[in-house]
Amino acid sequence: MPVNNENCSGLYLDLMKRCLTNTIYYEHECRNFTPWNKKIQRFFVQLLLRKNNPEIINLRDQGEDRRVSGKDWPPVAHTMIGLKRLDNIQYCVEQIIKNNVPGDLIETGVWRGGATIFMRAILKAYAVTDRKVFVADSFAGLPRPDEVRYPKDKGVNLYKYKDLAVSLERVKQNFERYGLLDEQVCFLKGWFKETLPDAPIEKLAVLRLDGDLYESTMDALKSLYHKLSAGGFLIVDDYGAVESCKAAVHDFRKERSIREEIIPIDWVGVYWQKAR
Ligand SMILES: C[S@@+](CC[C@H](N)C(=O)[O-])C[C@H]1O[C@@H](n2cnc3c(N)ncnc32)[C@H](O)[C@@H]1O
Repeated sequence: MPVNNENCSGLYLDLMKRCLTNTIYYEHECRNFTPWNKKIQRFFVQLLLRKNNPEIINLRDQGEDRRVSGKDWPPVAHTMIGLKRLDNIQYCVEQIIKNNVPGDLIETGVWRGGATIFMRAILKAYAVTDRKVFVADSFAGLPRPDEVRYPKDKGVNLYKYKDLAVSLERVKQNFERYGLLDEQVCFLKGWFKETLPDAPIEKLAVLRLDGDLYESTMDALKSLYHKLSAGGFLIVDDYGAVESCKAAVHDFRKERSIREEIIPIDWVGVYWQKAR
């Protein structure tokens, strides 16, 4: 998954990644670490440890590496997905531009907007004006698990974490700060089950899922996967961290007989390219 960061657009995108993860002012961000953030982090770590993921056993000792690998919930940074998963977004978007794969880009589950800001930055870097970035979120945090319809979501109580609820105004402001809020960015506000089925999207070239729950992952797949062009990319952020998200991906693949190879990005994210 090599990305070229030597030319002007590469240098711009490299700087964007450092800003979006706030690895540039990392020490300052650590000083701002409040007890509340620590509590959230502890919960997230426990959630992950429950799955016996050996990758995160030494999480607390890893310092800055943690941010680079997207293993913390940053108090300030605009994304929590880390540099490798941002590299993966760059790779996928560069591929679809290079290969003229038709369609727009979307992330379902954007939090402070960082990953979608980066998608818009890539289009800007390559002067692409005929594709949009869709930014889909409740802008109010996660839903309560619907344990009757989605029993695999039982106990994934991320809806309790107010820090995961970032308002639409705040996300727009974040786009603006990078000079990237314009008519190529479209916001879809509300629960995925309400906004995605009738979203004004014809075709997608990149579909990135980051909604954590079985329900959120399945709702996005059911509403959008058929719109993904051949040669386009499906990215799942939480595959290695949230068991119910992984289950949704497998159930959907089985139901639709999807056989494309699942490729790991880092300790948690995966992607595949839709067959031509
Ligand atoms: C882990 S955060 C996303 C992180 C983000 N991609 C980033 O770059 O840092 C999960 C987001 O998904 C949203 N979300 C989860 N399930 C949802 C649903 N069913 N409908 C709408 N939004 C949802 C939450 O509001 C939250 O903003």
